[in-house]
Amino acid sequence: VSRAISVRHYCKKTTRKLRISEALLGSELGANVKVQGWVRSVRPQKTNLFFHVNDGSCLQSLQIVAGSDLDEPLLTFGSAVEVTGILKKSPHQKQPVELEAEQIHIIGECNPVDFPFKIKERHSLEYIRQFPHLRCRTNAFSSLLRIRSEATTAIHSYFKKNGFVQIHTPIITSNDCEGAGELFQVEVSIYRYYDENENFFSVPAFLSVSGQLHLEVMSGAFSGVYTFGPTFRAENSQSRRHLAEFYMVEAEVSFTQSIEDLTKVMEDMFRSSTEHVLAHCAEDVNLFHKHVTPGHRDMVDAMLKRRFPVITYSEAVDILNRSSQEFAFPTDWGCDLQTEHEKYLVKHCGNIPVFVTDYPYDLKPFYARDNQDSPEHTAAAVDLLVPGVGELCGGSLREERLDLLRARLEEAGLEDTYSWYLDLRRFGSVPHGGFGLGFERYLQCILGVDNIKDVIPFPRFSHSCLL
Ligand code: 4AD
Repeated sequence: VSRAISVRHYCKKTTRKLRISEALLGSELGANVKVQGWVRSVRPQKTNLFFHVNDGSCLQSLQIVAGSDLDEPLLTFGSAVEVTGILKKSPHQKQPVELEAEQIHIIGECNPVDFPFKIKERHSLEYIRQFPHLRCRTNAFSSLLRIRSEATTAIHSYFKKNGFVQIHTPIITSNDCEGAGELFQVEVSIYRYYDENENFFSVPAFLSVSGQLHLEVMSGAFSGVYTFGPTFRAENSQSRRHLAEFYMVEAEVSFTQSIEDLTKVMEDMFRSSTEHVLAHCAEDVNLFHKHVTPGHRDMVDAMLKRRFPVITYSEAVDILNRSSQEFAFPTDWGCDLQTEHEKYLVKHCGNIPVFVTDYPYDLKPFYARDNQDSPEHTAAAVDLLVPGVGELCGGSLREERLDLLRARLEEAGLEDTYSWYLDLRRFGSVPHGGFGLGFERYLQCILGVDNIKDVIPFPRFSHSCLL
């Protein structure tokens, strides 16, 4: 039941509903407005009662001024309120405007004893992670969600500006994108119209581990395509950089035979999105860089200052072998790079993102283009490694030569499964390539967040699917 408390006389003026971000702009001074949100602080003083309300539209809260005679025990930290009143210039420097309350409704009470977050306390990301249904009520997580939303916009606008067409690749698919990750199989538990033993799709179906092959279909008709959506991998890992459901940005560029064309898109997208986020979410990013991950801003500025260096896999192996650091995993030519190696390489290159190209052919899936003229047998593949996280992007030129592709598929016994893929090379095939960027790892990288579970609204990982 909502309770209304008349604080001052109630005027029958027209009332405009404003978001707090709009109210704080200060352009509506003198107007009669209504705001709705959640109480962030309550400060009774001799002459007035001050409290702050936040509605998630920005980090700042709006100060509400009510008479000191307001005795309202239900006006507590976390309670939901609706306040009508006059927007006034605030006498305090910190706040450009405040709302002189005429009427306050308590819309939803919040018992401060049971509420897991306490007024004026700074809770760690680990602590708030225990409350997936409530953590959006904290400053840190609501900032994170606004940054995530703005970074999504930034990535879409990068591709739009550069003439890429967005493709909604399917979530349910019958292809496993050969080796991209462990698959979740889709099963129908209740059959209404089908025989109990009948498979709904008549073929095994999975949650997508990558939209790459669907993008490759489209790259036969569009010179640049991308997709940005949920991706699923049954990683049996509790690591700080793996999830079972994560968002991936994938792009495919047609008419290219050079890895540089791919690294250019990756680097430009990283720069333009990061600059956009720093400019459009300055307050939220500051909260992270000042209080949650202090010192990280210098690292981000350093990343944006220099071009990203490019080294080959063979050079990377040399660097690892010349290092005095002891690695847990082998560093022989032909071995896959592990997180410890990636982190070392990033440090070695000055703690900025670094591209590693031309991986051993045998490490890469069938679609990676054979660097036939290389002395060691390599594929035209590229990873982008970034500070604090390791691998952020993985990509390659795709094998467009029908004879080579067919031979590799035959060798793997996959010729029939991928006959449609061979068709792409038979009908108007063009040299092309693409990559995938892990969106949560990108947020970890620019915000300095150690655990991937803290940059996604509802993390899914092995033994955990809360809510
Ligand atoms: O390197 P990956 O496996 O590349 C592909 O799937 C390609 N088919 C993409 C393409 O060429 N279109 O994954 C791409 C990126 C990784 O670099 C990493 O950032 C992220 O996706 N990623 C994960 N992020 C969170 N949790 C996981 N389990 C992830 N697995 C990969």
